[in-house]
Amino acid sequence: MSAIEFKNVKKQFKDGNNIIEALKETNLKVEMGSFVAIIGPSGSGKSTFLTVAGGLQSPSEGEILINDNPFSEVEEKKRAKLRFKEIGFILQASNLIPFLKVKDQLVLVDKVNGRKGEKSKEDLFDQLDIADLANKYPDELSGGERQRVAIARSLYNDPSIILADEPTASLDSERAFEVVEILAKETKCKNKATIMVTHDTRLIEYCDHVYIMEDGVLREEKDRSQKKIETLCN
Ligand SMILES: Nc1ncnc2c1ncn2[C@@H]1O[C@H](COP(=O)(O)OP(=O)(O)OP(=O)(O)O)[C@@H](O)[C@H]1O
Ligand SMILES: [Mg+2]
Repeated sequence: MSAIEFKNVKKQFKDGNNIIEALKETNLKVEMGSFVAIIGPSGSGKSTFLTVAGGLQSPSEGEILINDNPFSEVEEKKRAKLRFKEIGFILQASNLIPFLKVKDQLVLVDKVNGRKGEKSKEDLFDQLDIADLANKYPDELSGGERQRVAIARSLYNDPSIILADEPTASLDSERAFEVVEILAKETKCKNKATIMVTHDTRLIEYCDHVYIMEDGVLREEKDRSQKKIETLCN
């Protein structure tokens, strides 16, 4: 089953009289169990691709399927439901809720989703080493700590698809590897699909497909991934 499919998808923005083709015609299938990296220069269209994939923006043309179901074509209410249930976002700005303590950031997930995951908050907090921060507010955390809380929140609902935009950007290298390993394990051992935008080419060792975005064009680079993932679930 494919987790995400792009069929002839384009995304354009208007800038005065100019049209910016942020994403040129894109066809792509991401299978369940696959960990995909997207690298490429600033402004090349990586975040646009990811937000269109997750239905945070509509494509200008073409169609997106999620778990083989129509996604971009269905009405917003249905799409939002599917998004909450199936997709975990880790966005470039970590988007924590400013007036909630760390331990309460996940409460909204319980409320909105009627949670389906089996994951306990405690296990996730331990895994991401944020248990000691439970009673702090986002503005009392470092960038890296905020990022780890955002990652915990995105995994809490056990989404079948994880879309991560620079999830390790504010982390030191040791933590960056830890986080990417968590994402790789989620993907490989639980048969999810993960797309990770990253500048850090060391991290693509954990990915089984690497794509390069250049000027709105996505192309697969065949020999880049190192398949460090094969022993992860043992
Ligand atoms: N909402 C928008 N309105 C107008 N132009 C936009 C919008 N979002 C993105 N763009 C433009 O689309 C292009 C792609 O932007 P995008 O954010 O996808 O790049 P990116 O590859 O994620 O860059 P970075 O690595 O800096 O995060 C850029 O030229 C950007 O200015
Ligand atoms: Mg971006």
